Amino acid sequence: MRVQPERFVLSENPVKMLILVSGNGSNLQALIDAEKQGVFEGAGTITGVLSDRPCAYGLERARLAGIPVYIELPAKSGTEPSLSDRILDLAVKNHVGLIILAGFLSLLRGDLIKVYAGKIINLHPSLLPKFGGKGMMGEAVHQAVLAAGETESGCTVHLVDSGIDTGTILIQRKVPVLPSDSSRSLADRIHHAEHIAIVEAAVMMIRR
Ligand code: GAR
Repeated sequence: MRVQPERFVLSENPVKMLILVSGNGSNLQALIDAEKQGVFEGAGTITGVLSDRPCAYGLERARLAGIPVYIELPAKSGTEPSLSDRILDLAVKNHVGLIILAGFLSLLRGDLIKVYAGKIINLHPSLLPKFGGKGMMGEAVHQAVLAAGETESGCTVHLVDSGIDTGTILIQRKVPVLPSDSSRSLADRIHHAEHIAIVEAAVMMIRR
């Protein structure tokens, strides 16, 4: 798809947010709840939820909230439009002004990153730049933090650029790592911090 960025408006009011999820969607839920509670003060609205996995529970959360859902699987061959191009197409058609990766595990690349530069944010379960990059997702991050003997961890919300977990950091929230922690207990503690950080970041972006 060839999109001319100047030919569509990225800053409509309210800012339309497209949330990308691959799994449980507890961070999506935090965003849904925030909108219901008026945290966005009418300046932002969740316009759709997209998943690269048809069985992601996040899709069910969206359906329950009455939000349109989209399923787009990663391309199986080089002849199909890429996942990123299909997301770009959907985002432009729906006048999306902010794309939020809330536990989305496919990599985004190509025109999507260029057209939506500064308008895609990602949530990562560590204090970047520590424990980011290829293969650093979900449980693997917490296991690496424990193996490294860290005494604190947390979450980061950052702008998405063409690298992996390398974009400008917007928000970080720290949590302690306890001697008794398993990757599960650490993940749970970080999830609480994430639910606050992702909403803070969305507010920050829609007020820009
Ligand atoms: C979150 O912990 C998020 O930081 C992580 O996936 C989890 C999704 O949880 N994202 C990554 O690891 C991306 N590298 P959720 O589905 O309950 O919101």
